[in-house]
Amino acid sequence: FRTLDDVNVSGKRVLCRVDLNVPIADGKVTDATRIERVVPTLREIMNKGGALIVLAHFDRPKGKVVPEMSLRPVAAELEKHLGTPVKFVFTDWQSAPSVDVKPGECVLMENTRYHGGEEKNDEGFSKLLASLGDIYVNDAFSAAHRAHSSTEGIAHFIPAYAGRAMEAELKALQLALETPKRPVIAIVGGAKVSTKLDLLGNLVKKVDALVIGGAMANTFLLAYGHSIGKSLAEKDLVDTARHILQAAENAKCAIMLPVDGIVAKEFKAGAASHDYGVDAIPADGMILDVGPMSVDRINAAIDDAHTLVWNGPLGAFEVAPFDQATVAAARHAAKRTKAGKLVSVAGGGDTVAALNHAGVAQDFTYISTAGGAFLEWLEGKPLPGVKALETK
Ligand code: 3PG
Repeated sequence: FRTLDDVNVSGKRVLCRVDLNVPIADGKVTDATRIERVVPTLREIMNKGGALIVLAHFDRPKGKVVPEMSLRPVAAELEKHLGTPVKFVFTDWQSAPSVDVKPGECVLMENTRYHGGEEKNDEGFSKLLASLGDIYVNDAFSAAHRAHSSTEGIAHFIPAYAGRAMEAELKALQLALETPKRPVIAIVGGAKVSTKLDLLGNLVKKVDALVIGGAMANTFLLAYGHSIGKSLAEKDLVDTARHILQAAENAKCAIMLPVDGIVAKEFKAGAASHDYGVDAIPADGMILDVGPMSVDRINAAIDDAHTLVWNGPLGAFEVAPFDQATVAAARHAAKRTKAGKLVSVAGGGDTVAALNHAGVAQDFTYISTAGGAFLEWLEGKPLPGVKALETK
């Protein structure tokens, strides 16, 4: 695909799609990570004399003008991070809005999802968006799993380029799974096997070792015939779990399940908890975290690996003391990364929050800000927003 190195943006109207779907509380952005990530691309376009028109969605207004889902509060935050004025343009997108922007300036357009055509990837709406600019730059990897007008359709009508954040993301992902330094270890956690079936199915074919943690490990423990007391599990997926174990064996991927678990009678902060081997889980207890013997094994496996892909916490990390396995393994991976011995890539849902909680997110090689897009990439699915940038 082509990047900002392949185009002279000076004097051109540049439509740049970014992901500004950031958390907001009381009209204020509470986590600006996604904004910070796209600042270099936006600055570069303005500094090179492009007239910058920023496109983004916010939440899911489903084709209606929902005032609470306006991007207006995000414009103020973007302005703060860019250090230059950002003019906000309200539109319901029913007709092409008039956009007054000069070279070196920046405007932010209202939520593209105010128009029903956006999510349908409607050709008319894609053309309307394309008519606003001379070229299109996509810097929204985290929205690239959506085939929408502003992420995919538009690229069929004006020349399309990858922004700097998109470039960095794709390079990191390539390093992690496409052309990794082996052995590759993956850590997959989280509550449910059901949401990660495709992901596990794909990973066992690509990695050398797969650590399964979180409540989803309980379903696998059942598949091995362990009793898990009152632990969360998906009993109807025990057979599916067996199939995944078989697929891993066929692909020579070593599966690592917990050998011990931190068990409590109730799930609340500071609840009394004990470490039990997986053969001795009490009938009235719940496994809420991976135990210390398992953490030692995970850390030893990280020592053997050159590449780590991480998605999902190992335990119920939001509630102490059930954060300990996640924190210990994250810190160990960060230490190996800092020592230059490991390429570590993490992303998806709670993962970034868990690594921030461990205080080591900045030490990983790359942290993706994508949720759904990171998961679909781990599932091995083509991402329409990325495909649309490929030059034929
Ligand atoms: C995200 O927040 O993961 C992206 O912005 C995509 O949002 P969506 O799930 O509403 O399409």
